[in-house]
Amino acid sequence: MKILKFALSCVLTVGLLAACGTGDENKEQQGTGGEAPQEKVTLVMGTSADYPPYEFIDTAVSDDIIGFDVDIAMYIAEQLGFELKIQDMDFNGLIPALTNNRVDFVLAGMTPTADRLKNVDFSDIYYVAEQMIVSKADSGLTSLEDLAGKKLGVQLGSIQVELANDIADEVGDVEVLERNKITDLIQELKSNRIHAAIIEDKVAEGHLKANTDLAAFLIEEEGEAGSAIAFPKGSELKDQFNEVLREMIENGEMEKLIIKWFRQE
Ligand code: ARG
Repeated sequence: MKILKFALSCVLTVGLLAACGTGDENKEQQGTGGEAPQEKVTLVMGTSADYPPYEFIDTAVSDDIIGFDVDIAMYIAEQLGFELKIQDMDFNGLIPALTNNRVDFVLAGMTPTADRLKNVDFSDIYYVAEQMIVSKADSGLTSLEDLAGKKLGVQLGSIQVELANDIADEVGDVEVLERNKITDLIQELKSNRIHAAIIEDKVAEGHLKANTDLAAFLIEEEGEAGSAIAFPKGSELKDQFNEVLREMIENGEMEKLIIKWFRQE
């Protein structure tokens, strides 16, 4: 009888674990962990984990969302005494998640724009990126003019949409296609369904390294796009986060994370 009970509880446990493992679409994970849980308030971070090295899942290692933004969030949460939970969604869903208060903040390499500022607040900028045109290495695309007659992919809801439309206006005859995930763009590039995609430099570099059939060039005239943390309008968290961001820059923590995620060879 005892053995049967034990076997039964094992089956139940395994069943439960399996259920957790396959979970729902929204990936959730505990943050810092370690310390004894003493009724810390949990902050929910929204992100779009299709963006290595900012936020991604290294499926070879685990289901956890990791990256530069995740480390920043964990550091800030720890400093402010919050528990952290991460919720994954399409990039295009992040601003609505903030305005509906389904998440407390968004860390997703998101650029503060005048348009977004109508609906959300942003922290100070914590990193700046530049824009690249990524294409197949054998495509011969080396300038914006070469995009004439071509299909140009961008992530839905990103600042790259507007940039692509500007390029289309300037160059003429460019078909702009919007996709939910950066990984979709890479797949479509590799299978020749699109000719080029606009992707930020650090993210593009990772894909170039992993895919030798891809090449890229910088959009010189575009200048830089900063990343900042987004909050629901009027959130008290903004000032608290800014204070820790400033500390991180002063105490070298930010530089450490930049080296960890952007300079590793
Ligand atoms: N910086 C760009 C923007 O704000 C792209 C960010 C995309 N981030 C992501 N996690 N996919 O629109």
